[in-house]
Amino acid sequence: MDLIRTLADLQRLEPLRRDPRPLVMVPTMGALHQGHLDLVRRAKELGEVVVSIFVNPTQFGPGEDYAAYPRDDARDLDLLRPLGTTAVFMPTVDLMYPRERGVSILAGSAADGLCGASRPGHFNGVLTVVAKLFNLVRPDLAVFGRKDAQQCLVIDQMVQDLNMPVRLIDHPTVREPDGLAMSSRNVYLKGEARTRALSLSRALRAGVEALKAGERDPARIESLMATELASCDSLEYAVARRVPDLATLDSLSGRVLLAVAARVEPARLIDNLVVEVSGDKVTETSLLITPAELDNLEAS
Ligand code: PAJ
Repeated sequence: MDLIRTLADLQRLEPLRRDPRPLVMVPTMGALHQGHLDLVRRAKELGEVVVSIFVNPTQFGPGEDYAAYPRDDARDLDLLRPLGTTAVFMPTVDLMYPRERGVSILAGSAADGLCGASRPGHFNGVLTVVAKLFNLVRPDLAVFGRKDAQQCLVIDQMVQDLNMPVRLIDHPTVREPDGLAMSSRNVYLKGEARTRALSLSRALRAGVEALKAGERDPARIESLMATELASCDSLEYAVARRVPDLATLDSLSGRVLLAVAARVEPARLIDNLVVEVSGDKVTETSLLITPAELDNLEAS
């Protein structure tokens, strides 16, 4: 596994570009858990894998947890090695942000609302770093987690609007056995907070169950999800929106994102689920690339 830290080191990726297999990137902020590792396993099925580990300062707002964000490079590398990761890109802040006020990317309409509303500037920071990572590594494919559904949509909009030559794949959320979506921030959850955090996945399940029982009114689904989140310290949002533009719907049909965000002190947690609502059928589905498109991609 090649450890890449500098611009000069990136030259070592050149031979991979001549390989017929796609170069597949998995961007992360480290503190890796099974959710991240599942993305890497998926990437490995698709081609040669480059994982990036970089805690990106520009996506953290003032008062957010940039300084406290868990970091453990040695452990992360130990977890990535057995998965057949080809290279790990671990740049410094100076490499990524060499000047005080450099050019940045402004997120499009997909960043309106949800996390975009409560974390001003967050998605601009995500897009700026992801654009730089794509330019430095130049992957053919990149795998992101559906757990951060709005992030997937915001990045996909950038790729489309700026004509970036990369294809994005969203991977299902990996959960603890009791349903809690894995997250690097779960280390903040101690004792009863960990129990209360389960209400996020419970809220999504309640939403899906109601859809399966025939409910199509978004307001009723949203209020059901909000009720499940009552034990959280504060509810940020519990919404049912259209995919991919996150528009509100009068009646839920087609691809629908169920999304929740709440504070369980000291953590801010989110969870997401994407379903296809077709007639009376409700099935879990993907956000970006459909399973059929993915099969074609793998066959080609
Ligand atoms: P990070 O939170 O480290 O997540 C890296 C990737 O892992 C993201 O695509 C995220 O959606 C995915 N992921 C996290 N938890 C997951 C889970 N339980 N199941 C499946 N996938 C999961 O997201 C970021 O970093 C940053 O914003 C980044 C895109 C790297 C830009 O800095």
